[in-house]
Amino acid sequence: MAVDLRVRAVDAREQMDAADADPRMLARTYARFAAVNAVVSDPRGLYRRLVRPRARGCAFGGALRVLDIGCGGGDLALALARRLRRDGHPAQVTGIDIDPRAVEWSTRADPEGLVQWRCTSSADLVDAGEQYDIVLSNHVLHHLTESGLHALLAESRRLVRIGGVAEHSDIARSRTAYALFAAATWPVAGTVLAGSYIRADGLTSIRRSYTRAELAARVPPGWRVEKRMPARLLLRWEAPHGAP
Ligand SMILES: C[S@@+](CC[C@H](N)C(=O)[O-])C[C@H]1O[C@@H](n2cnc3c(N)ncnc32)[C@H](O)[C@@H]1O
Repeated sequence: MAVDLRVRAVDAREQMDAADADPRMLARTYARFAAVNAVVSDPRGLYRRLVRPRARGCAFGGALRVLDIGCGGGDLALALARRLRRDGHPAQVTGIDIDPRAVEWSTRADPEGLVQWRCTSSADLVDAGEQYDIVLSNHVLHHLTESGLHALLAESRRLVRIGGVAEHSDIARSRTAYALFAAATWPVAGTVLAGSYIRADGLTSIRRSYTRAELAARVPPGWRVEKRMPARLLLRWEAPHGAP
């Protein structure tokens, strides 16, 4: 049956979000996120473009504070923390998720304790008065309801320090993105991805994701939506220097 990608499939649900998701399948899904993100989310580019320049700017001003909201399997936060350490930049990287299963997984995947893992929400961090130089998320926007999206954007702005930046990266919904993901994951569905939710939830994620125009129409003033390759959207807000 042909999949209709003209409108967001807002009622489609990702299986990994279910409270009764199979724990072994969930663990395999978290374990495979790193490979998926290495291909589609460009952690190396994220570090070079967004994180490293700000870490250099912190040279005399203390440790760079980075927050990953909805860290899932924790691979992006961990990749950033490892690169910061490799390059000798003092930093505190925090990964948060509202799902305790994700936080438990990430904590176990980081025996060196490079990242501070917390089961909490961005709203709670705002209430606690936390502030960061970089607030980011990956593959979270499409999970949210319309009000959840607005809350996340308002909270991420409040979590950014003067001169800092908030950047949310996600899939850009398109027939091409869907066809490419379906084709790329089909040959490994029974091997590398077997026993995980990656293929089924990845296809659902694409159906739930925004197009550039849809996201641009929903975000408050001050946020910029960019289309990136491959089939990516980048939603960015920069805190003015000298004013919160
Ligand atoms: C598809 S996973 C993405 C995980 C990871 N960021 C990645 O790129 O692989 C989305 C994650 O966002 C989390 N999440 C959804 N809404 C959230 C919210 N409001 N605050 C924090 N985490 C949230 C979910 O629990 C889930 O672990």
